[in-house]
Amino acid sequence: MSTPSVFITGAATGIGAGLVSKLANSGWQVFAGYRSSPPESASWYKHPAVRPIQCDIASTELVHKAANLIAQATGNRLDLLINNAGCFTSGGVVEAADLNAYLQAMDINLYGPLRVIRACMPLLRHGHYPAGGKGRVINVASSSTLMTFPMAAAYTVSKQAFKTASAHLRLEMAPFEVQVTTLDPGSIATPMTDNEHKGAEQWQAIPESLRSQYRHKFIDADELMKRNTRVSAYTPEYFAEIVYRKIITKKRFRPLYLIGPGTAAMPLLQRLISLQGQENIWARLFRREHDIFSPSTGDQSILER
Ligand SMILES: NC(=O)c1ccc[n+]([C@@H]2O[C@H](COP(=O)([O-])OP(=O)(O)OC[C@H]3O[C@@H](n4cnc5c(N)ncnc54)[C@H](OP(=O)(O)O)[C@@H]3O)[C@@H](O)[C@H]2O)c1
Repeated sequence: MSTPSVFITGAATGIGAGLVSKLANSGWQVFAGYRSSPPESASWYKHPAVRPIQCDIASTELVHKAANLIAQATGNRLDLLINNAGCFTSGGVVEAADLNAYLQAMDINLYGPLRVIRACMPLLRHGHYPAGGKGRVINVASSSTLMTFPMAAAYTVSKQAFKTASAHLRLEMAPFEVQVTTLDPGSIATPMTDNEHKGAEQWQAIPESLRSQYRHKFIDADELMKRNTRVSAYTPEYFAEIVYRKIITKKRFRPLYLIGPGTAAMPLLQRLISLQGQENIWARLFRREHDIFSPSTGDQSILER
């Protein structure tokens, strides 16, 4: 059997870099898409099984160029596409949303992977996935779609849109033996979660006239990261190991995978606790101590979620 091929976007850093190394060391031919982060700094640089390819997913032209290079190298086939590239833009607060941040988030987190899917689907249709079927697609969304967080709506909204598009693609491609799945990672220690200046950016994104009101009600993003996220985050290498063992090597892709500390338990929590109850727990993470609201008893004659 010939060497299976994979194209990973946003591969120079974080989760993408972890996946490149894992797949290259597991016998795959890897096409590592990078935008501006220099690939020379990546852990996989000069690995004989890895070919770096410049691919800014905001550019239809560059995406098609990347797909053409892959087609030339593989004889017009691709066995796995991992849509990993993404960006975090907060968009400020909803009442004074920075629409440019929303547009940027949608362009990279939704339209970007759609550009890549459009360019790579002809190759995936000719793929031979080692565990069966034609080519396959893994779309990286986010666990923030399960429970959103204040002052970061642009990111969550764009990831939720991408998740819906991924579910559509899964349905549409199933008859053609192209399996598609979505990943919801949570708390992986990467450059995206390692921004010590997130707090400053978070407040800057809110118009000055409203800023002090929000500062009074919500804790700083840096404080939140320190308290809850960085403490228990998975490394990209550990994340890649799980993705490889539990997803990539399996005969069938399930519709959705939740991976990260505490993330897998979220659906169980959602089944056991009302939406109001979940919100009360969640609010404690973000609201200042003195300001946590208490749950209402509600009118039992209607369904309240
Ligand atoms: N880390 C987490 O806890 C977490 C949780 C949920 C979801 N995710 C998702 O996981 C994916 C990987 O993120 P990460 O955590 O590994 O962060 P990261 O290290 O910042 O990786 C994001 C990668 O995407 C690339 N990228 C951004 N815009 C691009 C564009 N226009 N074209 C091509 N590549 C572009 C970045 O390249 P440049 O450096 O050149 O910009 C970077 O290499 C993202 O989709 C993210 O939303 C991460």
